[in-house]
Amino acid sequence: MSTKTLQKVSEYEKSNVNSRLRCFKRHISSQKQSFAEELSHSLSHESKFISPKFFYDKTGSELFEKICDLPEYYLTKTEIEILNHLKTELPHFLHDDFRLVELGSGSSTKTRHILDVLHETQSKTEYFPIDISDILESSSQELLSLYPRLHITGIIDTYENGLEFLKEYDSKNNLIVFLGSSFGNFSPKDGLKFLKKINSIMKDSDLFLIGLDLIKEKSILEKAYDDSEGITRQFNLNMLSRINTELDGNFDLANFAHVARYNENEKRIEMYLQSLTNQTVQIPKAKLSITLQKDELIHTENSYKFSLNDIEDMMADTSFEIKRIWFDSNKHYAMVLASKI
Ligand code: AVJ
Repeated sequence: MSTKTLQKVSEYEKSNVNSRLRCFKRHISSQKQSFAEELSHSLSHESKFISPKFFYDKTGSELFEKICDLPEYYLTKTEIEILNHLKTELPHFLHDDFRLVELGSGSSTKTRHILDVLHETQSKTEYFPIDISDILESSSQELLSLYPRLHITGIIDTYENGLEFLKEYDSKNNLIVFLGSSFGNFSPKDGLKFLKKINSIMKDSDLFLIGLDLIKEKSILEKAYDDSEGITRQFNLNMLSRINTELDGNFDLANFAHVARYNENEKRIEMYLQSLTNQTVQIPKAKLSITLQKDELIHTENSYKFSLNDIEDMMADTSFEIKRIWFDSNKHYAMVLASKI
């Protein structure tokens, strides 16, 4: 390791869980405080919003897993269909040993499809999940029992900091994966910035694999974000429960409706919590008192959808060369493999 890398490592708290699992966690003072701080800004404006990163407390993460199993939420199923296909195709692009680096690994279930490929052909398989959430540790434990030659280095931090950690780490090839169309949460501007960031930390021999949701019929898109069982509704409303439990808020969930609309001009699903009455809500730990008019919307998420042209332009603009694009049989979803130009 270079001195530079050692310096970076010292900003982290290292824990060796066992000989095959270690975790680096950035010293973060208080997550609760930053939730309160962000809300005191985002809910005090005329157009109110809550960042989608706050969906994922324990309940939210569990609800998201349920969403992935819903018949209407085609994203997970189509991505798995493509990943199954990649088991035979990916090895053609991996001429040497590759370390798997995953952004936003969550519960790591889909990761197994890629680990299967690497573990079969390599005498030692390295996996670097980067995730802000602590579940990284428990999901990693489970993977170790499934793959005997697997070594995991978990980085509990933001994507950006995790990527910096990886920069000039060593000379081994990295396969960086960003699954689930999580990229869709970025605005077009931030998305380009993020792709440039990934490109800037990559070595010439590294590869990048990204899953992206494609533009399709409005009704299919809207049903995926407003399912018949109401799980996505619960997922969206959980944002308010979380404010109630963590910050002593007094949101009455019965006074809010779940709204999911496809905005064709902006090519994105927009999710909102709509106030059903004129109401005032207190959030003591964020020092907030907010008034909401009947029908007023609190924006909670944008989920961008892409055309093939959008994907090609985006990759070219951020200095990536597309090696291959795979689609599912209905062309609802795409996975793009790219290297640095
Ligand atoms: C995790 C951001 C990919 O946008 O489809 C699912 C989150 N929101 N249902 C998505 C989500 C509502 C999901 N991503």
